[in-house]
Amino acid sequence: MSQKVIILDTTLRDGEQSLQASLTVKEKLQIAVSLERLGVDIIEAGFPISSPGDFKSVQMISERIKNSKICSLARCIKKDIEAAGISMRNAKSARIHLFLGTSDLHIKSKLKKNFFEIIEMAIHSIKIALKYTDDVQFSCEDAGRTSIDNLCRIVESVIKAGATTINIPDTVGYTIPSQFKTIIKNLFNRVPNIDNAIISAHCHDDLGLAAGNAIASIEAGVRQIEGTISGIGERAGNTALEEVILTIKLKEKLLNVFTNIKHNELYRTSQLISQLCNTPIPANKSIIGSNAFAHSSGIHQDGILKNRANYEIIDPKTIGVKAVQLNLTSRSGRAAVKHHMREMGYQDDDYDLNQLYLNFLKLADKKGQVFDYDLEALAFISNQEDKNQEHFQLKYFSIHSDSTGVSTASVKLLCGDKILNEIITTRNGPVNSIYQALNNIAGLPIVLEKFHLVGKGEGRDALGQVDIVVKYNNRKFHGIGLATDIIESSIKAMLNVLNNIWLSNKIKSKIKNIKNKK
Ligand code: KIV
Ligand code: ZN
Repeated sequence: MSQKVIILDTTLRDGEQSLQASLTVKEKLQIAVSLERLGVDIIEAGFPISSPGDFKSVQMISERIKNSKICSLARCIKKDIEAAGISMRNAKSARIHLFLGTSDLHIKSKLKKNFFEIIEMAIHSIKIALKYTDDVQFSCEDAGRTSIDNLCRIVESVIKAGATTINIPDTVGYTIPSQFKTIIKNLFNRVPNIDNAIISAHCHDDLGLAAGNAIASIEAGVRQIEGTISGIGERAGNTALEEVILTIKLKEKLLNVFTNIKHNELYRTSQLISQLCNTPIPANKSIIGSNAFAHSSGIHQDGILKNRANYEIIDPKTIGVKAVQLNLTSRSGRAAVKHHMREMGYQDDDYDLNQLYLNFLKLADKKGQVFDYDLEALAFISNQEDKNQEHFQLKYFSIHSDSTGVSTASVKLLCGDKILNEIITTRNGPVNSIYQALNNIAGLPIVLEKFHLVGKGEGRDALGQVDIVVKYNNRKFHGIGLATDIIESSIKAMLNVLNNIWLSNKIKSKIKNIKNKK
């Protein structure tokens, strides 16, 4: 019968340890709520002895979260264990997580003890922890580099002392899947009371093998996996939980296990955590990266359009991603271009595909990624000057912003052959007031979805590049602006978008006229 793998998320403990700026209590609570919604079994909420802030956040999370168990970390030291126990007093269900180095290296050079003292410390600490909860987890820190004889000895002792979950961390991400699997198999074969506890794996990703090690450990009998969404954690990070969770889902029959995770919450949770932790998800990150479901090469795009299974093992909807993206680049084929045109509502005989494809390739070589409105312009505007013409042109701007939070923006635009002015005062910052002024002049119902500012170059010569994405009539428009003044870059990016929308509307009316004449 298929068995459950318990998912323990340690974003708020191991993940938080690695962040450049620590999370506020409110942010931690927000992450905990999203992990609960995702269906995580256990949330490791923090290390309460480490700071008053950590204690407080574990306390608040314990009060708020009811559908996931709350876990707190403690060294094998009385005051740590007491802090962990007290911080979770109001939790519906609580676990104390004790850890102690078990490798010779940690015992001698870090803890300055011998192995028998380590066993005694572990047993004593478990007894203290059991006064607060009957759910005690013991982690053999650096288990990946602990001799198997010692590992078997300590695991047997801590189970006897009352620990109900035994975690086997590859603390420094040093093992490879076959090695890690052998360690777990040895524990199952050699520890007589092993069936009285759940065996857990906590793998670090120093060699990029964390998820592979975690899956190998499941094959050997592990039934709890620890990690973080997107793998945030010490150094190279922890096991990326979404990788293990989706592997289990796709290989459920082979592995004969399941999780209780709500898969369609994975994407949303990953976005929230990445935002709050200020840790961008790399575009090519498996499962949750922006490219994970995007197909760029012509052969792949053609294959996907014929049958998604040709190049897709996961339906993006499974993790809550709305639609498949086919990025248009110089590697895209005719099929992808045609598909985009159809998605925009054009029929095949509305334009000349061969001509469009040739022009598309030229533009893609220059621009990298080609957007839908570029395609439209290529398909329906033969006059290059017409395409390059900018309807909205900046004539003047000024901005005043002060410490009271009030910003006043003034802009003058040349719109076709008319000069239009607007002055706006807001309390939402200079970019917001200047954007409101521009939008009032353009009069287009747009929604700003993304605003991204990066510095280009160094020192006094650096430029600010603003990238924005705007939604207009259910379509997305992208604009870029580059200038030494970041307000000017912001204006240029918005004008870029407004001109693209204007051009796209002009093209549509041209096509309507042609069709009416036919
Ligand atoms: O990596 C590690 O060993 C840990 C323990 C505290 C479980 O994070
Ligand atoms: Zn760790």
